[in-house]
Amino acid sequence: MTITFDSKNEIFKLDGFTTSYVMKLFPGGVLSHLYYGNYINDTNLGYLVRFKDRGFSGNPLEARGNRGYSLDTATQEYPGFGVGDYRTAAITVELPDGSTATDMRYKCHNIFKGKHSLAPLPSSSANEDDACTLKITLVDGTSGVEADLFYTVFKDSDVLTRNVVIRNAGNYTVYLSRIMSAALDFHHSDFHLITLNGRWACERQIERRPVHHGISLIESMRGNSSHQYNPFLAFVSPNADEENGEAYGFNLVYSGNFAAFCEVDPISQTRVLMGINPTDFKWCLMSGESFTAPEVVITYSSNGLGQMSRNFHRFYNKHLLRDINKRRPVLINSWEAAYFDFTTDSLLTLAKQASELGIEMLVVDDGWFGERNNDKCALGDWYVNEKKLKGGLSRLANEVNSMGMKLGLWIEPEMISKDSRLFEEHPEWCLQVNNRHMQESRSQLALDLSRQDVCDYLYDVISRVLKSANIEYIKWDINRSLSEVQSQLSEPNRQRETWHRNILGVYGLFERLRQTFPDILFEGCCGGGGRFDPGMMYFAPQHWTSDNTDPIERIKIQMGTSLTYPISAMASHVSSSPNHQTGRCTPLHTRGYVAFTGGFGYEMDLGKLTDEEKEIIKEQIKIYKSHEDLIRNGDFYRIKNPFEGNSAAWCFASAQKDRLFFTYVQILSIPNQPLYRVRISCADENKWYKDTKTGDIYSGLVLKHAGIAIPELLGDFLTYSCEFEEVFPNGIV
Ligand code: GLA
Repeated sequence: MTITFDSKNEIFKLDGFTTSYVMKLFPGGVLSHLYYGNYINDTNLGYLVRFKDRGFSGNPLEARGNRGYSLDTATQEYPGFGVGDYRTAAITVELPDGSTATDMRYKCHNIFKGKHSLAPLPSSSANEDDACTLKITLVDGTSGVEADLFYTVFKDSDVLTRNVVIRNAGNYTVYLSRIMSAALDFHHSDFHLITLNGRWACERQIERRPVHHGISLIESMRGNSSHQYNPFLAFVSPNADEENGEAYGFNLVYSGNFAAFCEVDPISQTRVLMGINPTDFKWCLMSGESFTAPEVVITYSSNGLGQMSRNFHRFYNKHLLRDINKRRPVLINSWEAAYFDFTTDSLLTLAKQASELGIEMLVVDDGWFGERNNDKCALGDWYVNEKKLKGGLSRLANEVNSMGMKLGLWIEPEMISKDSRLFEEHPEWCLQVNNRHMQESRSQLALDLSRQDVCDYLYDVISRVLKSANIEYIKWDINRSLSEVQSQLSEPNRQRETWHRNILGVYGLFERLRQTFPDILFEGCCGGGGRFDPGMMYFAPQHWTSDNTDPIERIKIQMGTSLTYPISAMASHVSSSPNHQTGRCTPLHTRGYVAFTGGFGYEMDLGKLTDEEKEIIKEQIKIYKSHEDLIRNGDFYRIKNPFEGNSAAWCFASAQKDRLFFTYVQILSIPNQPLYRVRISCADENKWYKDTKTGDIYSGLVLKHAGIAIPELLGDFLTYSCEFEEVFPNGIV
């Protein structure tokens, strides 16, 4: 991990764990991109730069008659707007004279140990000795606006983080109408683009396509990162698969409106930009003020998509998730067990049934507060409904605790029902545009968290609830996209700041509650997985991955999610069969093994279980508990892709690869099955392993190349799982 500046050739070189990232100052101080890939040992890359006169590409002043030098074709790190680069810009600043031209040139740089914080924005962190940061300051000579571009490399991770701080060092107020957090120009377009797209109950489906000339835009304008698109993209070489080929991954640490542009220009260079969505964004920046744009996490792998994912996973587990080591108790959630229909007595019955099976926590989902008997009312009324919960939360917590279990609770602080006491008292607290209808979604409106008074109120009222009983887990939900985004408090020239200020309000509230209640385990949720992004992961170490608990659907959702997010961040539950979302019937074994991929729990009426099912569940909990550390901290390998066939397989491997936990799921039964062999790609070629169930001994080479034979899977047993442990650690067979 080193960062150097070769002043003779004006070349910056950032070496991470096994990668190098190289930039050069072009004439006039244009910061340009030269190389990103496997480690290289020299800075002398100037020979890669070729300028060529291309029609209709103009020349800046410093070209000094060289018609080959144009901003329109230069590979840049932070391209401006309106000054001869016709591709998508990273920054646009509006000046008082109405002009929008922005041209950022090198001013100075600074290299320091460690990693800066972006607070109040979420960001990764590292000890002084584990990271090294380069700050390059660019300046727009006309307005005086400066951009600090930050690049951090890490000792132990093949990851580079970037972010930008804009400073108004000029004398007059300006407006920022586009501030991307990172831009990067590749000199070619021999790429496939991978994105994670979806919809409610069908999040993060993997989509892969060749890049094309023109612009592909992945974005959210929903006020949250969304079920529909995720702030992630990857460029991969066309031959890339799980183990081979190049993969560049980009992930934005932000939970609000985002945009990721992928533009292939006329000479087939590829530009990627990621940051806050410029649509409906305008930030007033007075002289002396600054604006911090969120962090982008970038990784490179020359060993395919699997390595790309593991780079992200390890990095997030180590440098972003603050509660990675907080235990995740096996839980029973009341939602699919009872929906809104519960009382203290019925919850205690559920808790008792659960504790007999080995479940460790009861989570009371939606319906415990106000007059909340359905999803049409009472959001905002955060006081206990004593008609349902006699004796309130404290009695419930005491009784649940006396069974040796913990109590968790669902909240949806950012929302308000029109039919609520809070709305009667404070209609002005909603996001709303004057003289326009306030659109409801799931019969609810959104609170305006850009307002400090709203955030303070929420902090007080939620704190009161959390202090009233021994609550050890919170599921923090949000169940609508935002619309009519306008704040009753802001001045007209600041209204287009509301989207971003709202998400800053969410982050601020979350942080205050985390500080006050450091022992609570927070889980994020957004109608399932609609806000599954690194920004929220900074505050809540795990997220409800999807409202879809059908294990067959979940395999795809979890595999897609695992492209960038660690398994430790996914919450996954066993629900009843037929499934409530799809009506599909699946074996309890399949439901269990699929739900092992993450924070594990149950979400069903346990009173309906047969004795045989209870025994299976007891066994599942034992298996989960004996693997939870491997699941949370181990490496995840996707082995068979559910998007491509009738089966899926994956494996968790310990860091030393001395423990492998393998699962194979057959989706549909097949009569008279062919013989399936599956290669365990993560086996260490130099190790020997014992199958802990059968006692069979395999060499790592055999597991990796010949694979294992999957037994015939029929009826209730469509899942095969096994565990391999290293034997003969001294190499003696
Ligand atoms: C969302 C969540 C569910 C459940 C309901 C309650 O849809 O994703 O798990 O909590 O809200 O209303």
